[in-house]
Amino acid sequence: MTTEEMQKRIEKEFADRFGGEANVYASAGRINLIGEHTDYNGGFVFPGAIDKVIMAAIRPNGMEKVRVFSIDIDEYVEFGLGEADAPKESWARYIFGICREIQKRGGDVKGFDTVFAGNVPLGAGLSSSAALESCYAFALNDLFNGNKIDKFELAKIGQSTEHNYCGVNCGIMDQFASVFGRKGHLMRLDCRSLEHEYFPFNPEDYSLVLVDSRVKHELKDSPYNKRRESCERVAKKLGIETLRDADMDDLNRIKSDITAEDYLRAKYVIGEKERVLAVCDALNAGDYETVGKKMYETHEGLSKDYEVSCVELDFLNDVAKELGVTGSRIMGGGFGGCTINLLRNDLHDKFVKEVTARFNEKYGHEPMIYDVVISDGARLVKEAPKA
Ligand code: GLA
Repeated sequence: MTTEEMQKRIEKEFADRFGGEANVYASAGRINLIGEHTDYNGGFVFPGAIDKVIMAAIRPNGMEKVRVFSIDIDEYVEFGLGEADAPKESWARYIFGICREIQKRGGDVKGFDTVFAGNVPLGAGLSSSAALESCYAFALNDLFNGNKIDKFELAKIGQSTEHNYCGVNCGIMDQFASVFGRKGHLMRLDCRSLEHEYFPFNPEDYSLVLVDSRVKHELKDSPYNKRRESCERVAKKLGIETLRDADMDDLNRIKSDITAEDYLRAKYVIGEKERVLAVCDALNAGDYETVGKKMYETHEGLSKDYEVSCVELDFLNDVAKELGVTGSRIMGGGFGGCTINLLRNDLHDKFVKEVTARFNEKYGHEPMIYDVVISDGARLVKEAPKA
């Protein structure tokens, strides 16, 4: 479904269920060029929002409850706004969490009616959940708080929702990208200081392509939280707040005091910090070959040391390398989902064809291919006419 078709569907569904018109808001899924599993370690990330969104029609209803219909899940849920009112449906808990986290910060949330849908593929590592959170955080800020909550706080509201209502102890990258995304730009975020910089990303001769293995990952039941715990244990042993402040000498000094597994996890994170900075320099110099080389190194680290890959993703990475793709790696939390591939435009069609055929031959299903279009993040799409 294109975004325009989706908007029409949402508006029609809203009118049928609740009558009349509502404001329409959207927020985006994200890619990340490099800097994986660094956000909760106080490191750097390099994401951008994409042209796949979660979109919602929302209108205050003058009640103390939220009435919400999910088009994609085809389910209707109602919930109140108190802590005890948490819905049991996992998808509705994201919206409930956003309401609660705004309230906890002293913000205002009143009852509203809403219908939403999305075209961010689920479980593909493109952060459909952050898109959902950011869409509602942005909308409730606009509808009930006169846009007084600043953008970083909106991202943190999404992150706290994951922590407190959805069981994923995630970092800030996804929500940041979804809220701050800007068309044609990637962003480097320092997750310790929250300083960020926009990098125009429109290489003439290269493009980004996602290959979705369609192996689903569910971070809640995945070892994602365990990876974070490993990093925190090592940081504690070193007497520092996060691994951002460690280098390989520090890590080697305490090697015999930590498990072999924790050592490997921290080794990856320390290496990744350096790689993001190297990629920034390379991008500034227009040196995409170096960007690509770093991406392969990241894949290697995520696969061997951080152990968040799987056979399907390693296979996609091998095929990319064999076909001469400039850079390729697992993207997002891992345990399934996509690889992100940087490749010369003249290789695009051949790569798509070959990788699809070879993956299908090996695993019995075709991967999904997405050409990356870097787009805007959270936004008001349409304002309903004043009643
Ligand atoms: C998930 C999390 C992010 C980040 C990535 C890995 O997407 O939500 O906070 O940790 O994994 O880089």
